[in-house]
Amino acid sequence: MPTQTVVKVLPDLPQLIDEALTICLAKMQGAIATRGIFTIALAGGSTPKPLYEAIARQPLEWEKIHVFWGDERYVPADHPDSNEGMARKAWLDQVAMPASNIHAMPTLANNPAIDADTYNQAIEKFFASEYYSIPQFDLILLGMGDDGHTASLFPHTPALQVEDRLVTVGEKDGQPRLTFTKNLINQAHCVMFLVAGASKQPALDQVLSNQGDNATYPSRLIQPAGELYWLLTGLEVD
Ligand code: 6PG
Repeated sequence: MPTQTVVKVLPDLPQLIDEALTICLAKMQGAIATRGIFTIALAGGSTPKPLYEAIARQPLEWEKIHVFWGDERYVPADHPDSNEGMARKAWLDQVAMPASNIHAMPTLANNPAIDADTYNQAIEKFFASEYYSIPQFDLILLGMGDDGHTASLFPHTPALQVEDRLVTVGEKDGQPRLTFTKNLINQAHCVMFLVAGASKQPALDQVLSNQGDNATYPSRLIQPAGELYWLLTGLEVD
């Protein structure tokens, strides 16, 4: 269970993004002070894009920030659906971050399982240092779909059961995706959901309730040992 769960409803998306930026910068400052670097895993979809644009406008120590992705559609980075492509346009191409600090999910082996294993190994290698006992991100950003999925952990898919690795193959409507496993997400120091829009209310009600089926609403699986933030707008909580 999280050490601390914060559920906050913001009046509109700009104020949600402002809140998310404040939290993100605070985690960044703390991590850099403690370990000299900040590790973040990005969410895809549309909600986080203004956050990435806001981060890009900050005067930050880009060489101390390492960017990963929590999930990726199985397409090249220049494909319109690419989460990497979205984040590069919104943020990474706008700042002087060393290319070696940008750890994109590989999608070019024409075999999602091979690419998932490659990324798994890259994460294990990155975190194999004296600062970490396990692969533990400072911050993992997540969205939630209308169906209650998060990252590419979709309802009633095999990825939900994977516990022997950090990265696996997800699937949406039969299309492959790469995704962090629930265990890697739950190992993070801090996990922050950014969720906007009334269409997500039924799923949110199930995810935040004491009951509810994890396989049907996979966001319920996200119970990090660290902090958990739910930043919401256009939604209601009891
Ligand atoms: C993806 C995301 C996915 C996303 C949700 C919410 O690759 O699509 O990682 O999990 O966060 O589908 O997407 P929106 O922010 O567009 O509602």
